[in-house]
Formats: sequence, C-alpha cells, structure tokens
Amino acid sequence: MALTKKLHIKTYGCQMNVYDSGRMADVLAPLGYTQTDAPDDADMVILNTCHIREKAAEKVYSELGRLNLLKRRRQKEGGDVVLAVAGCVAQAEGEEVLRRAPYVDMVFGPQAYHTLPEMVARISRASGAQLNTDFPSEIKFDHLPEPTRASGAVDGASAFLTVQEGCDRFCAFCVVPYTRGAEYSRPPAAVLAEAQHLRDLGAREVTLLGQNVNSYHGAADDGSEWRLGRLIAEIAEHTGIERIRYTTSYPADMDDELIAAHGRIEQLMPFLHLPVQSGSDRVLKAMNRRHGADDYRRLVERLRTARTDIALSSDFIVGFPGETDSDFEATLALVRDVSFVQAYSFKYSPRPGTPAAELDGQIEEKLKEQRLARLQDLLNTQQRDFNETCVGRTMDVLLDRPGRLPGQMVGRSPYMQPVHASVPENMMGQIARLTIEAGHANSLAGRIFCP
Ligand code: SAH
Ligand code: F3S
Repeated sequence: MALTKKLHIKTYGCQMNVYDSGRMADVLAPLGYTQTDAPDDADMVILNTCHIREKAAEKVYSELGRLNLLKRRRQKEGGDVVLAVAGCVAQAEGEEVLRRAPYVDMVFGPQAYHTLPEMVARISRASGAQLNTDFPSEIKFDHLPEPTRASGAVDGASAFLTVQEGCDRFCAFCVVPYTRGAEYSRPPAAVLAEAQHLRDLGAREVTLLGQNVNSYHGAADDGSEWRLGRLIAEIAEHTGIERIRYTTSYPADMDDELIAAHGRIEQLMPFLHLPVQSGSDRVLKAMNRRHGADDYRRLVERLRTARTDIALSSDFIVGFPGETDSDFEATLALVRDVSFVQAYSFKYSPRPGTPAAELDGQIEEKLKEQRLARLQDLLNTQQRDFNETCVGRTMDVLLDRPGRLPGQMVGRSPYMQPVHASVPENMMGQIARLTIEAGHANSLAGRIFCP
C-alpha cells in the first residue's frame, strides 16, 4: 500500500480552476496523497494559479516566497516539501516562474496535470525541476480518473463539471486563448456519464463549466453535433440532476436552442452570467467582441421572453485603451437598461502578449478607479434593489452549507443569491421551500415556507 502523504492545493481564479484542483487530487490519490487544509502539514503544495489580471499573477510570487521558507525549514529537518505551480501563470510564464522561484519543483499548465504521476516520479529521481507547459496532443480528460467525494467533487450537494475548455474568440484583452489553448468540447457521452456519476455521489445541482461554455459543440457517438441546449436537455432528462447551471457564456454564441431551453427545461435555473464587458460599440469593436450594445439588449429581451424571471449577471472592464467619457456613459446606460442582479467589474489590466496591451490610449489608473467606482455604485444599487424585491417571495433553495449561527444553513436561491435560514438539521443537502424575509446587499434571509 502506498504511504500516506499530505497534499495541499491552493486555488486562485475561476471555477474551472476549482474543478481542475479537484481532479489533480483525484490523479494524486493513487500515489497515496490525501488532502489537507494546512500547508504547514503538507508533503506537496500545489498553487493552481490565475493569470487573468496582473494582481492575480503577482499574488502567486508572494505566496511562493512564504512556501520557500517552509521548504527550507523542512530540508533543515531532513525532510522536504514538493512545491508545484499549476494553472494559467504556469502556462503563460513557466520559465519566468522557475527563474524567480528556482526552488519550485514542478511547473505545469492546465492541459498537462494528468501527467502528474510521471512528473512526481521524475522529481523523486532527482532529475531537477519539471517544466510541462506544452499543449499535449492527447486530451487530459481521457486520462483522468473519475471524480470522488474525497477530492471535493461534490461540495455539499453541488458540483462543477467541465464540458468545454479553451477559447478561440481572442478578445483583445484576454489571456485565456493563450493559457488554456484552443477550444475543445468533451463528447456528450462523457459529460452525461460524469453527470450521472456526480449524481450518484450525491450532487443535486451541477454547474457546467467552460471558458466559453455556450460555444459547446460535442461530437456524439452517432456522428451528430450537440450544442449546449441539447446537452442540458439530455442531462435534465437522463441523470436525475435537479438543478443545472452553466458558465461562462459568450453573447454571440447564445443560439435559439439554448434560449428556448431556458423556457422549456424546468431544471435549468433562471440565472445567467453573460459578460458584456462594455456598453460602447466602439470599445466592443476594439475589444474584438462580436456583439454591439444593442445586440446585447436584444438578446436579453429574447431571454426574458423565453423565461420572464431570468436574472442576469455580467462582467465589465472599465478603462480599456481609448475608452472616452462618452464610451463609459454608454456602459452605464446599458446597465440601466438591462438591470443586473449581480456583476463583476474590473479595471483594464494590460496583459503581456495580448493585442490590447500594445494599443495607444492606455488610460491612467486614477481615471480607471473613478469609472470603476461609479459603475460599481450603480451595479450595487441594482443588486440591492433586486434582493429587496425578493422579500415576500417563496423560493426553492438548495441548502448545502452550515450558516454562521447555530441552527442556520445557507444555500443558493434559483437566482444565485446566498440565502440564510434557520432550519432543522436534517435539511442539509435538501431543496427547501423558503419564504424570503429580508434582502441585504449580498444575500437574502428566509424561513421555511408555511402555506
Ligand atoms: N469566458 C471567460 C471569461 C474570461 S475572464 C471565463 O472563463 O469566465 C473573466 C473576466 O475577467 C472577463 O469577462 C473580463 O471581464 C475580465 N478580464 C479578462 N481579461 C482582463 C483584463 N486584461 N483586464 C481586466 N479584466 C479582464
Ligand atoms: Fe477571454 Fe473573450 Fe474567450 S473574454 S475567454 S477571449 S470569449
């Protein structure tokens, strides 16, 4: 039997990284690794990193500095800790990681972690640091073991399932096409099998993940191509999964089938994260997005026709090179027209190797900050307004975490807000019918519905 070793994984960035971290734990389990929350106890520490904005990448180097101290302490005691950098920083600047942190043992990108056992074997033969940032010709999904509860594949009663990876859209600001590589859709049969497996592990809700998830086009066994709407319909029909979500979508890839699915498929939750980035046609064009502001407005209208209560969320970038005051006002106008229940907004961060980093008209930090503050004010108001309109309504909430107070549990509303409620202990993992009693800035409070 393999000796038990402790593995600590620290995950940065998007939900796909959360999924990948779980799968890394699954790959390492047969080698005797069990997970620990404490890096100080670990025999191996993996930083699963994010490169999307400069701040995200810089955090990794300061964490590595701390881990180097741990490694030196261990080595003094005659032991060691294996340090690994995974994810998008590894992919984008693997050599740089080894230069700035030469004590790191392994550096590997998001498409290479299925080779972890080989990399571990090589470092134990003392063949030096392992750098693995090629895009392998084989597909990692074909080499991964099934997800397990031990790796956290099912968190409470909810699970992530990557169905699509990579992106071919090349938005001018974005590193994803370079770090995650070309777009790839997993075959429908593999997705359905994994959804069924997650259901068997206790998942009632599944979030289908992809960098550009609604560009999904999986090749089915009969030679036909399934788009995301079909995939969702089949998961709803065949797996017993009760709630389905998907993220992140690209507006120009919302096809008729997927829009119709929102009206037709009961298990598909009435919430959609649909990044628009800007409300100015000029900026959207410079960003190489394939939608204008009015295309987005019309799309929202069609979604709301299909499913009247659909709640929308979005991503915004302020201070893209060349953004004028009137471009920014157009973004505010779009936000007012659409109304979002939540959103993420960022100052533009120039990323090495992306076309936008080379553009003239880079905006000064101070102006970016002012614009961001104004946008966030408006978005926060909309979020609070939505939360307040929930008061008095009855909603089905999947309770999947303990709350802060004794007797309290937390779950997500169909529209994605965390809902706190005092409920009996046996309701953990259940879908509870709650009446919303209060709407706060970031959450709702409810109590068991009494007809
Ligand atoms: N489809 C992707 C989205 C990319 S990253 C996904 O997997 O979720 C998430 C968000 O980060 C983007 O929608 C964009 O708003 C923001 N972002 C990406 N690159 C950025 C940059 N260079 N500067 C600021 N924000 C950025
Ligand atoms: Fe990035 Fe645009 Fe693709 S934001 S992930 S290049 S759709």
